[in-house]
Amino acid sequence: MSVGFELQQTDNGLALVWLDEPRFQPLIIDFHKGKSAYRAQHSALKSEAIARAVGITGKRQPSVIDATAGLARDAMVMAGFGCQVLLIERQPYVRALLNDALARAQAKSDAIGEAAKRLNLLDVSSINEVEHNAADVVYLDPMYPKTGKRKAQVKKDMQMFQQLVGSDLDADDLLQPALSVARYRVVVKRPNSAPFLNGNEPNQQLTSKKHRFDIYINQGFDK
Ligand SMILES: C[S@@+](CC[C@H](N)C(=O)[O-])C[C@H]1O[C@@H](n2cnc3c(N)ncnc32)[C@H](O)[C@@H]1O
Repeated sequence: MSVGFELQQTDNGLALVWLDEPRFQPLIIDFHKGKSAYRAQHSALKSEAIARAVGITGKRQPSVIDATAGLARDAMVMAGFGCQVLLIERQPYVRALLNDALARAQAKSDAIGEAAKRLNLLDVSSINEVEHNAADVVYLDPMYPKTGKRKAQVKKDMQMFQQLVGSDLDADDLLQPALSVARYRVVVKRPNSAPFLNGNEPNQQLTSKKHRFDIYINQGFDK
């Protein structure tokens, strides 16, 4: 149960409704719409910091476990570059929205539908339930508490999402299991001002305007 929220079936797909805030539009994940649809189809490897952080090249598409899947926007970008991405999400309403969105997207045979077919939602709620060396890369993007100016800038659908999932205050616990599951590397997306996950300094960093990717390397890619 998620207090104050309800899932409703609509003509456009399963929708999350914020009962206390009726001025907010219901949230539906639609991989065919919005910025991430565009990014999944048109992004160039060089211009997507996430692709460089994960180690995607023209010849290499690492398998990825996205252990904090959320709305799977980042996962869709990685799948758009050809990666097989296994998704883990612990919030039951978000899992339901993802399942519904994946089924709708995978039913289409266009480029987004083909990318969506490379996304699979795992039937577990934690990276702790995944075997050692199960993927080339583990990707983490836990929620980080938003404050002050940044809070005001957050878009309405994200405000609703943040209210539902909370602040992921146990995020530090993700790093060690992620390092055990990743053959090559763990990539952590963080706001630029956030401390390192679990206080662990990464081997490499890539920064962009809004956030950075901290890269923890178990071993270099074979090729
Ligand atoms: C910031 S969102 C991820 C957004 C995602 N990268 C995207 O592009 O849409 C974080 C998500 O991770 C989930 N989460 C946080 N900690 C988790 C954990 N330990 N195990 C599984 N899911 C977790 C939260 O419920 C939330 O949906």
